[in-house]
Amino acid sequence: MQQQTSTQPAPTQPALTEGDRARLKATHLTGAQLAEYRRDGYLILPDLFSPAEVAAMKAELARIQRIDTDHLVREKTGGVAKTIYRVHEADGPTRSAVFHAASRAPRLLDPVRQVLADDALYIHHTKCNLKTAIDGSVWQWHQDYGSWQRDGIPEPRLTTALIMLDEPTELNGCLYFIPGSHREGSLEAEFNDATGYRFYVVPKPRLIELMQRSPEPVPIVGRPGTAVLFDCNIVHASGHNLSRHDRWQVYVVYNPVANRPKPVPSPRPDYVRSVNFHPLQPGSDDILAAAAAGIAPAGRAAAMTAPAAEVRR
Ligand code: SIN
Ligand code: MN
Repeated sequence: MQQQTSTQPAPTQPALTEGDRARLKATHLTGAQLAEYRRDGYLILPDLFSPAEVAAMKAELARIQRIDTDHLVREKTGGVAKTIYRVHEADGPTRSAVFHAASRAPRLLDPVRQVLADDALYIHHTKCNLKTAIDGSVWQWHQDYGSWQRDGIPEPRLTTALIMLDEPTELNGCLYFIPGSHREGSLEAEFNDATGYRFYVVPKPRLIELMQRSPEPVPIVGRPGTAVLFDCNIVHASGHNLSRHDRWQVYVVYNPVANRPKPVPSPRPDYVRSVNFHPLQPGSDDILAAAAAGIAPAGRAAAMTAPAAEVRR
């Protein structure tokens, strides 16, 4: 048989769409957006990540959830992953070049720097909640700072960037925020591990009293690729996934280096209480190219780590 020679040109990168171009530019929050964040305790940034970027993130989590590691918490039923930690670093069993790039992309990092009014930030942890169809379980009402205060973090000055990888709905267990509840300050919290995840929740009498005088909880829904910044003291929760659809979400928690944790007697492991206090360097908004190029040596720069005793598991 005669060998066929191809006249096709070499594959090139797909042209940028309108949406891609808008994403690459839209990095700076307006005064109105900042005021909304301060008033409500959260701010929704629709379509911050493209469908291709979301697909790359999902492929990474599908890969990582098969790894047998203590950086991963499984549901009490079904054995599927509930939470995967520490996907943003250059090392460790759950490392991912895609999340390393996404968490440093200027289109995310710039707004985070604005809401925290600080440029020297590090990541306290990343947490990927794979609330899978049918098995994905509840997260009780809580403030994140309830746990992070016990990590030794002096002030409630953290913000979290939530990235939607599926479309969260009320049936599949979207997050709910009580708008403005971050202005209550840090509420007394009680320990809970009913779902296999160990954290501090708002006790019921205090919660009901707060709900009686607050706006109704808001379901946080949106298209995949939407990001949401939220204050570490906003009261939030989510229900069981009763649907046949997964609800995967990623959370990147940013803290000013100046607000890094003080030593505590029995620190949580570094995959949940990072001791890499090296200030984040903004990367590229071309997340897929950055991920394909691998993690630059600068990403492994000597961390300003805490004393060895503190990173004990
Ligand atoms: C959280 O509040 O930390 C997680 C809630 C969720 O992913 O539904
Ligand atoms: Mn939370």
